[in-house]
Order: sequence, then C-alpha cells, then structure tokens
Amino acid sequence: MEKDREKFETLEEVFDYSTVMTAYKLIRKGIVDRFNGAISSGKESRVYLAFTKQDEFLAVKIYLTSSAEFKRGMRIYLDEELYRIYTKNFRQAVFEWCKREFNHLRIAYNAKVNVPRPIDYLNNILVMEFLGENGKPAPLLYTIAKFDFEAIYKKTITFIELLYKAGIIHADLSEYNIVLHKQEPFFLDFGQSVKKNHPNAMNFLLRDIKNVNKFFRSRGVKVIEDYEIFEKIVNP
Ligand SMILES: Nc1ncnc2c1ncn2[C@@H]1O[C@H](COP(=O)(O)OP(=O)(O)O)[C@@H](O)[C@H]1O
Ligand SMILES: [Mg+2]
Repeated sequence: MEKDREKFETLEEVFDYSTVMTAYKLIRKGIVDRFNGAISSGKESRVYLAFTKQDEFLAVKIYLTSSAEFKRGMRIYLDEELYRIYTKNFRQAVFEWCKREFNHLRIAYNAKVNVPRPIDYLNNILVMEFLGENGKPAPLLYTIAKFDFEAIYKKTITFIELLYKAGIIHADLSEYNIVLHKQEPFFLDFGQSVKKNHPNAMNFLLRDIKNVNKFFRSRGVKVIEDYEIFEKIVNP
C-alpha cells in the first residue's frame, strides 16, 4: 500500500480521489504498472508517461473533470446523446468524451491511419501507445524546422481521407496535434473528433484541411487548394 501511495504521489497533487482510484484500478487490472512524470499539461487533460510491467512505455491521458474551460470548449463537439448527458452531469460527459477518444482512436488505427494504438480506458483515463523514443515524446510538427514536408503533407492528406472513409473527422487537426514519429506524421488528440453525421461535421472537415494547408504552405509546400481536397474527400 505504501508503494502504491508513492506511485500516486504525482497524481494526487492534481487529481481528485475518484481519478486516483481509477488510476489504481488500471494498475490492478495490469494495464499500467507505474506512472512517471507528466509529458504535457493542458486545459482539459494531462498526459503522463507510464510503464507496463515489462517496462514498455505508455502514454496515459487523464481528463480533468472540473475544468470550466473544458466545459465551455466541449459544447460545439457534442452530438445529441452527449449533449443530454452534458446538461445533466458534466463529469459523466467527460467519461463519455474519453470513451469517444478511445473508440475513435480504434477506428482510426484499424483504418491504417497513424495514431497511437489505443490500449484501454476507464472513466476519465485513456491508456495508449507512447509515441517517441527512450521516453522522449515525438516532436509536434510545429517544432520541426527542417524535414521532407512534401512527404508528410501527402501522408497527412491521405490520413484525413482515410479517417473520413472510416466515418470520422478529427475536428482539431493542426501542427499542434500531429507528431513526427518514425519519419511519419501521427495524429493525436481525438477527444473532440466527430462522426460524419454530426451537424458541424463538414465545417470541422474544412477547418482541418485549412489548418493543415496553412501550416504546410508556411513550410514551403505547394499545397492542393482547400476546396479541391474537401470535394475529393466528400464526393470521391
Ligand atoms: N501517445 C502519445 N505519445 C507521446 N506523446 C503524447 C501522446 N499523446 C499525447 N502526447 C503529448 O501530450 C500532448 C497533449 O496531448 P493531446 O492529446 O494533444 O491533449 P491536449 O492537447 O488536449 O492537451 C501532445 O501534444 C503530445 O506532446
Ligand atoms: Mg492536443
């Protein structure tokens, strides 16, 4: 028990009792063996480096269940069902959000889109493959000064297309949610991703394309026009 307490030391500073219990359950289940420091800490979540019993790296994303900013920001991404939950119980909506990220990561992964392999989730905690080397997270695209941006661009557009074919739109795609791992782009952060039939789906898709084009244009890539990509994806 004393050892377990140590494992949670970093967690307990930030998270409520129930989140710590959720982390504990994932340890009991054998999914996570021990937590390491935070990789990132945002308005909606923190991401931790963790280890399996076999000392393999894991990325563990823990959603905050009491963030006013998260509560506001979440609204436009809710579908009818999630909206109902949201109005009744925000905490439950966060759990659903986490579950959606897991499910959509799985769909993306199965559709051969480069994403961290989803491993498990419980309540507000998502466990996934760690992208990086020796515990050093893969760099986000915006931090990379020089690379074969033409090649990453092509792959990025292909992944947006594959995702759409699989029924999903990322809805927050940009150089801040794409990392370079093993010389290839990998998409992160699927919490806000939506199904094709979401009322704002087309707006989100166009915005994703615009963000991606804007970034790669700034890196000297001759990009395909926003609407041309959009048309090709929606009416192939
Ligand atoms: N599977 C992963 N492997 C390595 N690093 C990750 C992984 N998932 C997230 N990260 C790191 O944590 C940061 C935040 O994760 P993200 O899912 O984008 O959450 P948010 O942007 O909502 O805080 C990312 O920008 C990335 O640096
Ligand atoms: Mg992000």
